[in-house]
Amino acid sequence: MEKLIQIKNLKRIYKMGDEKVYALNGINLDIYKNEILCLLGTSGSGKSTLLNMMAGLDKPTSGEIIVGGIHIEKLSEQKITKFRQLNVGFVFQSYNLISTLTALDNVSLGLIFKGVPKKERDIAAKKILTDVGLASRMNHKPSEMSGGQQQRVSIARAFVDQPSIVFADEPTGNLDTHTSEIIMKMMCGMAREHNQTLIIVTHDIETSYYADRIVELRDGEVIDIRENQSILGGIKTNEEDEQQEDSVSSTDDITN
Ligand SMILES: Nc1ncnc2c1ncn2[C@@H]1O[C@H](COP(=O)(O)OP(=O)(O)OP(=O)(O)O)[C@@H](O)[C@H]1O
Ligand SMILES: [Mg+2]
Repeated sequence: MEKLIQIKNLKRIYKMGDEKVYALNGINLDIYKNEILCLLGTSGSGKSTLLNMMAGLDKPTSGEIIVGGIHIEKLSEQKITKFRQLNVGFVFQSYNLISTLTALDNVSLGLIFKGVPKKERDIAAKKILTDVGLASRMNHKPSEMSGGQQQRVSIARAFVDQPSIVFADEPTGNLDTHTSEIIMKMMCGMAREHNQTLIIVTHDIETSYYADRIVELRDGEVIDIRENQSILGGIKTNEEDEQQEDSVSSTDDITN
């Protein structure tokens, strides 16, 4: 298996007056291409800190983060922004959609940085919004959609330009159990379909069952790495849900 992300003795120390908070205290971890990985841990264990670091949103105090052979901890602000635009999608717990824009424009916006013309951006955005079951909500603004629908827009935005890595920080944290299942299946299905690497942060053991591997953090350290043994691992071929959410698997229907 090809290593996509290598993390070596990573530390992130916050200074709070005289006190030091070791948010990450010497993390070593390899993440492989195409895997779905879950970072599991209780509140304050360092999950978001680690995720933000891998996505180039924050810099470590010490240690190395090598993504696709590039030491991203050494990149300038400008280069790291470019790195993110070209390689990374991000799904937030609170969706982070632009409230004044429609679903279509929120998704289409993700392609601006790639220099794609407006017409093509809209075509790509419409296709992926249809894939996530929102064909009839394209012109709705975030406030006119349910939490689950907003998260589906945010998934569409993260996946629209098929980035090689998608990070998701508590993507189901604000959703009920049934909607959480739909969202997890959708994200994992998309990542599998396009051979993307997906890294999901959660404190919820049920959510972690969708991953290939589970990395457990506590107090800024990796305390366990395990292969997922749950039957949910093979989630993308769940027939029952393909029937209920048929728009989600519409690409499969066309190609098969
Ligand atoms: N900006 C900051 N300044 C000081 N301490 C911080 C800062 N951000 C995070 N921390 C501390 O670092 C530790 C790890 O925080 P982090 O947000 O990574 O945890 P988490 O596992 O994502 O928790 P949660 O499940 O609550 O989101 C915590 O103890 C937190 O208080
Ligand atoms: Mg967090």
